[in-house]
Amino acid sequence: LCIVLDFGGQYNQLIARRVRECGVYCEVKSYKTPIEELRALNPVGIIFTGGPNSVYDDASPRISPEIFHLGIPILGICYGCQLMAYTLGGKVATCITSEYGKTETTYDPSCLLFAGIQDMPEQAISWMSHTDYISELPAGFRATAHTQHCPVAAMENKEQKLYAVQFHPEVNHTQFGVRMIDNFLKKVCGCTGDWTMGNFCKATVQSLRDQIGPDGRVLLALSGGVDSSVLAALLAEAIGERLTCVFVDHGLMRKNEGDEVEAAFAKWDVNFVRVNAEERFLSKLAGVEDPQEKRHIIGAEFGYVFRDEAERFGITKQDFLAQGTIYPDVIESGQGDADVIKSHHNKLLPAEVVARFQDVLEPLSLLFKDEVRQLGRELGLPEYLVMRQPFPGPGLAIRIIGAVTKEKADTLRDADWIYREEIAKAGLDKQISQYFAVLTNCRSVGVMGDGRTYDYTLALRGVTTTDFMTADFARIPYEVLEAISARIVNEVKNINRIVYDVTTKPPATIEWE
Ligand code: XMP
Repeated sequence: LCIVLDFGGQYNQLIARRVRECGVYCEVKSYKTPIEELRALNPVGIIFTGGPNSVYDDASPRISPEIFHLGIPILGICYGCQLMAYTLGGKVATCITSEYGKTETTYDPSCLLFAGIQDMPEQAISWMSHTDYISELPAGFRATAHTQHCPVAAMENKEQKLYAVQFHPEVNHTQFGVRMIDNFLKKVCGCTGDWTMGNFCKATVQSLRDQIGPDGRVLLALSGGVDSSVLAALLAEAIGERLTCVFVDHGLMRKNEGDEVEAAFAKWDVNFVRVNAEERFLSKLAGVEDPQEKRHIIGAEFGYVFRDEAERFGITKQDFLAQGTIYPDVIESGQGDADVIKSHHNKLLPAEVVARFQDVLEPLSLLFKDEVRQLGRELGLPEYLVMRQPFPGPGLAIRIIGAVTKEKADTLRDADWIYREEIAKAGLDKQISQYFAVLTNCRSVGVMGDGRTYDYTLALRGVTTTDFMTADFARIPYEVLEAISARIVNEVKNINRIVYDVTTKPPATIEWE
């Protein structure tokens, strides 16, 4: 076990994910965790994350110097690096020139962190984001990397197995960053790197059994997407028929999707319930234009449906509600220390619904999308379920800009269906991570036959990504776009113009709302 000690930075789970990629099991703990508790976990190593603070602010997170004397190897990153220097008697000062982004960095190859990276030139690019720097090393340390403005871009105390880097090795922009983390884990901590998703699966099944107990029941909020399907398999493995999967069809699914989900689960030996709630959701959404407001209404309504279903199935206050929340849902909903980008539906349950259950289980909340897929394979889910493209809980409501109506949902469903058909026909469906149509609220003038039209513009979105935290737009060939465009304007009423969205994430997001 490696511990990632969280000081509130943006990339904390990314560090955890990199550690898992190196085949080492890892958990994220708050920096407030008592030293005794950390020691009892007997970790092979500890990684201090970055954080938004300066070590000199009184309110900044601190750590007891004791942690450096446990004999456990430590790697400090960014704020974690400065905190290590400061706590051990070095000096941290404000940079004359702050460094943000790609920075040319010179490494000392004799440092274990940078060892054995044969193709690493002495200079390579690291990703920096800091306004403070280490101006004086603590006793026993030496600098092992520098940049033009930062004399201590990395430092080590080899005897005590303390290492630190000012830059972010966990982000892709740092060349050889993952190798540096791998070096820390294997060369410094002595890990073998044999942890796998299979181990994670076994451990999670066991901890779910422990938490739910011998008689506890679980109501699973199932959207039929990848995350909740994987969670269904995980819970079925853990508690068998004490699991009830509730699939809420809010009338904002894609064409045929509700029936497809039902058919997929009919083949499976799990308790599956479909609730048709179109009326309920559309009436709550009537006239609502603001994206966050739509999300809040839908998130709350999902909660009330689950509460009603729990009553119906005699699920008590001693039982549990489970959701397939994954890490990007948590972080983008602003539940870490990051900003709220958009509130994902499963982070919006009303308090009274949460209180209706003993607890809400979210065992996937540390995983990224591709890790969830790997877990699904581990659990023996068929490839077509595991590789389905994601579909957001709020469904078409966030792909209809402005107020949602049944007519608009039907129009969008028809257009989206054609888009999907043509992409599949062109053999591109496996290459594009997610693609869908958006009904914009923009109307424009067209000419059809001999007459003037004044109809809606449909936007097509297609992205490639692995983790859905960042994404590129898919390079769909013009001929394919042409075929899609021609079919949609001919076959779908109320649409007379098609545009293709060519923004990346960031600065855009994948969904439009
Ligand atoms: P964005 O639009 O934030 O989307 O770039 C990233 C991924 O998350 C999906 N998404 C959601 N998934 N509930 C979900 O389960 C939501 O409320 C939600 N909002 C966005 C989106 O489809 C993309 O795959």
